[in-house]
Amino acid sequence: MSERLAIDGGKPVRNMPLPPAYPGASVYGEEEKRAVLEVLDRKSPYRYYGPDVAGKVKEFETLFSQKIGNKYSLGVTSGTAALVVALKAAGIGPGDKVIVPACTFVASAGAVIIAGAVPVFADIDDSMNIDPDKIGECVDEYTKAVLPVPILGNPCEMDRIMEVAKKHNLIVIEDVAQSCGSKYKGKYSGSFGHINCFSLQLNKIITTGDGGAVSTNDEKLYERAVRYHDQGMFREKEGFLASNAEDDIFVGQNYRMSEVTGAIALEQLKKLDYITDYMRKIKYMIKNEIKDIDGIKFRRICDEEGDAGSTLFMMLPDVETADRFIKALNAENVNCGCLYGGRPVYMIPQIFYQKTVDRFGFPFNQFKEKIVYSEDMCP
Ligand SMILES: Cc1ncc(COP(=O)(O)O)c(C=O)c1O
Repeated sequence: MSERLAIDGGKPVRNMPLPPAYPGASVYGEEEKRAVLEVLDRKSPYRYYGPDVAGKVKEFETLFSQKIGNKYSLGVTSGTAALVVALKAAGIGPGDKVIVPACTFVASAGAVIIAGAVPVFADIDDSMNIDPDKIGECVDEYTKAVLPVPILGNPCEMDRIMEVAKKHNLIVIEDVAQSCGSKYKGKYSGSFGHINCFSLQLNKIITTGDGGAVSTNDEKLYERAVRYHDQGMFREKEGFLASNAEDDIFVGQNYRMSEVTGAIALEQLKKLDYITDYMRKIKYMIKNEIKDIDGIKFRRICDEEGDAGSTLFMMLPDVETADRFIKALNAENVNCGCLYGGRPVYMIPQIFYQKTVDRFGFPFNQFKEKIVYSEDMCP
């Protein structure tokens, strides 16, 4: 090992950067290839009809439900689509507020706005996930739901969150985009909320490039999700409670998953345990080696056995040290970055300034009192 750090001109500890962190894509193999070719050979890339539909999306949904531990799952086109479908299935829209953690990807808040509701931000705790104690403070007469996000593999404390939600009569929509395969007290993230969302985008633990899933135990929410994702149609009748009852018809979108995506999703799902076991093992090996270094603190993992292991998260004493630490690690060819630039999600300009595509300021114009976001809301 060099006497000097690479940032100071020494020889890097690794001679090339670590491979990119795309866990699902890095284990693509013959299984994914065969599955995609099968769809192409059958000339049936569409889930609902075609000359010889393989039923890959349906098979993925069935296996996903079994795996996560819910009765129903629905393949969709992205994690963002999953959030919009879930919000709409739950009947959330104009005049409603949804509690979102201050630390998350823009899509968690963006989907709420696209659904016509307004996000209210709850602070996080030392796990980097929503602080269950802060949820109640965000509730007012308009609040309909809370959207916990297990950040980068760390499951949320879902028992506490479900308890607060029950007290305030909130619908819980878990946004498990970043943490598919994580567990809390032996149960998968995405099996606690009333309706739950997953992403299969490239950075995620299993991936189809783009794609997503909604999962729930609630038959009515599932049935509405299916219709919302498919133009409001009653196409899938099998096993459904719903009739064509006119009191619950609505216009939907098209967020249908293609058979090509379904084929890859199904094969990736079969590899989920392998991927998370492997990541967890490596992560804890590294964590154990560096745990005694002064100045480095780890975030609290809400359930270490259920950690998906995708990210080792470190907290440094101040911004300057963190900045230099990131530069120094990268110089050693050990990839490291600052999560979301160290900023809460509400500081993203389009959210902070409440800019939507609507010229009248919808949906922020739905409330008598002006909605205000300030930089110091969630310290
Ligand atoms: C927490 C969270 N929610 C939602 C999404 C959106 O997923 P997608 O990119 O599949 O639309 C992401 C993607 O990064 C995410 O991290």
